[in-house]
Amino acid sequence: MPRPVRFITIEGPDGSGKSSQARLLGDRLKREGFDVVVTREPGGTRLGEQVRDIVLGAGRDLDARADAMLFSAQRAQHVAEIIGPALAAGRLVLCDRHRDSTIAYQGYGSGLDVVEVTRLQDLATGGLLPDLTILLDVPVDVGLARRMKGPPADRNKFELDDGFDMAYHERVRLGYLEMAANGGRWRIVDAVGEPAIVAESVAGIVLALV
Ligand code: TMP
Repeated sequence: MPRPVRFITIEGPDGSGKSSQARLLGDRLKREGFDVVVTREPGGTRLGEQVRDIVLGAGRDLDARADAMLFSAQRAQHVAEIIGPALAAGRLVLCDRHRDSTIAYQGYGSGLDVVEVTRLQDLATGGLLPDLTILLDVPVDVGLARRMKGPPADRNKFELDDGFDMAYHERVRLGYLEMAANGGRWRIVDAVGEPAIVAESVAGIVLALV
């Protein structure tokens, strides 16, 4: 892992508390005096927000390959427009979901070839890899119960319709754990506990490396 770490991604299954943790970590880094760009995928650019509307609004009708390419296309734009320039300017970048989401969801989850999806990520990002990836891990039933307690509008296509596809979400979670087992840039944080405690664990890992 390069030091200092500059490009940090937060990953995890649905309901892992990822977006709140990204916000808390961004605030903490700013308080510690770091110049940090907090961004998200799908999103972060105009194209990213448009893709977000398409892929999350499309119900289950989108083909997994189309899904993978749309997520990857917005990622390419995000790297070109936001992430790359921020890193080049010496800023920290904290991104809520990035390449590993497509590998976990469209690869492990939807059954596309994981090696091919990984290559697609290399194409989309021009080979840029996060320096540090925090995996917020929660069992599927815990994550989905959290999402059910939240507003229905926050639920996405993987959580709607004919009930939750538990097997799909299990594959996503196991995919993440398999990737993280490679070590390297990955750190796994148990995200079952209170958000403030999880935030402390995340901040402890990150502040030691930035
Ligand atoms: P979010 O809830 O973290 O904003 O993510 C939106 C949903 O999109 C979530 O269910 C994960 C899914 N997703 C993919 O399937 N592939 C991807 O590449 C990304 C970035 C998200």
